[in-house]
Amino acid sequence: MFFQDIVGRFESEQTPFYHYDLKLLSQTLEACKGAADSYGFHVHYAMKANFNRRVLELIRDAGFGADCVSGNEVNKAIEIGFAPQRVVFAGVGKSDKEISEALSHNIFCFNVESVQELEVINDLALKAGKKARVALRINPNVDAHTHHNITTGLDENKFGINQWELSACAELLTRAQNLWLEGIHFHIGSQITDMNVFKSLCIKVNEIKTWFEERGFNLNVLNVGGGLGVDYYQPDKNQVADFKAYFDIFNQFLERKPGQEVHFELGRALVAHCGSLISRVLYVKKGIKKNFLILDAGMTELMRPALYQAYHKIENISRPDKASSERIKYDVVGPICESTDCFGKEVELPDSERGDLIAIRTAGAYGEVMASRYNLRDEVRSVYSE
Ligand code: LLP
Repeated sequence: MFFQDIVGRFESEQTPFYHYDLKLLSQTLEACKGAADSYGFHVHYAMKANFNRRVLELIRDAGFGADCVSGNEVNKAIEIGFAPQRVVFAGVGKSDKEISEALSHNIFCFNVESVQELEVINDLALKAGKKARVALRINPNVDAHTHHNITTGLDENKFGINQWELSACAELLTRAQNLWLEGIHFHIGSQITDMNVFKSLCIKVNEIKTWFEERGFNLNVLNVGGGLGVDYYQPDKNQVADFKAYFDIFNQFLERKPGQEVHFELGRALVAHCGSLISRVLYVKKGIKKNFLILDAGMTELMRPALYQAYHKIENISRPDKASSERIKYDVVGPICESTDCFGKEVELPDSERGDLIAIRTAGAYGEVMASRYNLRDEVRSVYSE
């Protein structure tokens, strides 16, 4: 079992907490960086997936840039030591304050999501006496074939500039004195496991890139976003995503001119596997129809199951699985006053008792960062192994 070496250490820890396996994180970062470097690709880490300090420090040291979606993320990236020229700022609703601050940091680029935002950035850059580097985030209307709630690249989504607005952008960019067009940007969704989706994205990017180049715009950067999915079902078998296969698709199908950079914004695939939520069984409720394991962690610590019905593997790490041991089906729930506060229904686990440690796996991405204080819960802690 994954935790057998460290479960003893967990016994003395106050639960619930996130456990980060920093060794696994380093291996993952190395695999990603190595594969990206082999094609000359650049990766900005999508900080929204996890902004735990230790995690960010390792990612910085491994040579990644930072993809931020709020002024606070930009400030944090700079504070942690990401070079400003490796920081990008995306998001549909950047406030004037956030834009001005990012301008003062001289970040690499704003990924701009509307014509109106382009005008605002131009005005604020003029006031600051600067030229803002921008990339246009374009909605390519490519279906990511993922969960409805984490699809972002369809016409019905709020993200990005619609293709029918490209002429307006081109016109504005030609006259705006304080904007400098770096390139074009796309992100179609998250937890994408069907690699054909990325091929479709490449074909669309090629089309849009040609549209700009035919009009005399020089694109230094093609930013194709993130979205590479991970295996939530077999976390021990596929601990490191297949970065090579992923980058290979873009190398094959994305047309790029000499000198044109390809940028990626990966979040989940870098950090999901290294994190687990560790919790303790508070009560075992045995009913006629159902058995409940009531944990001291709930949707306040890990919201994904309640929000997206997301699957996370659940293990009783106090009772390493033996083929012979009796297994019981439990609904594994938290203490929060909501019926959706459930990590999994009919989960087969060994006969469990109060005090057992439970690991909820593959929780390093969009776990700790989405925690809330609902029910006035304690802030969730983190424990590390290296
Ligand atoms: N770039 C942009 C513009 C994004 O919106 C996102 C994620 C990423 C990059 C990183 O995508 P990744 O490589 O992590 O798939 N809370 C949800 C996921 C929301 C993703 C939002 N955008 C979840 O728990 O599944």
